Amino acid sequence: MKLGLMASGNGTNVQAIIDAVSKQEISGQIACIVTDNPNAYVIERARKAGIPYLLAQPKAYNNRQTWEESIANYLHQQGVELVVLAGFMRIVGQPLLDAFPNRIINIHPALLPAFPGRDGIGDAYKAKVSQTGVTVHFVDEGIDTGEIIAQESLTIEEDWTLEDLENHIHAIEHELYPKVIEQLIQNH
Ligand code: GAR
Repeated sequence: MKLGLMASGNGTNVQAIIDAVSKQEISGQIACIVTDNPNAYVIERARKAGIPYLLAQPKAYNNRQTWEESIANYLHQQGVELVVLAGFMRIVGQPLLDAFPNRIINIHPALLPAFPGRDGIGDAYKAKVSQTGVTVHFVDEGIDTGEIIAQESLTIEEDWTLEDLENHIHAIEHELYPKVIEQLIQNH
């Protein structure tokens, strides 16, 4: 199974997937990485791992449609079968959804449907809930609304800072995402 990863920032989830592939905990291959951000550290990770990448900034295209179509074409050219959003901070629209029907997944740092959007960790922290967690889900046309594949919950201890919570969430993500990807490959 050829994976296409999409990320906008640091790329620690991408790194966890790269590491799981090299340890053969994921039986697929990473065909390519797509980013929308020229300053994303994930580009450095792609270079170090020798993985081809595409930088596709929306402003370099005429409109959203052509931006997404170019990404979809690139992913198809690389033979991608499953698109894995890993900290990709833009909404995926119809051109990509149509190009990869039911084959785009995302990781979100909260227990969806609670705290969708850009800052799932901060929003849960500010709301002072006692439980939050991580969700892996299929991507549909909504914002963090697609069918849930897996969730792992976490109790927020009273003395935790926001940074403590971030660290715990990321540790769960880095374990959970590779496991779920491998399950999807096995069930394919
Ligand atoms: C991750 O926590 C991921 O769940 C989140 O962005 C972070 C990216 O970190 N994604 C979303 O909030 C999507 N709505 P990373 O670049 O270090 O993998």
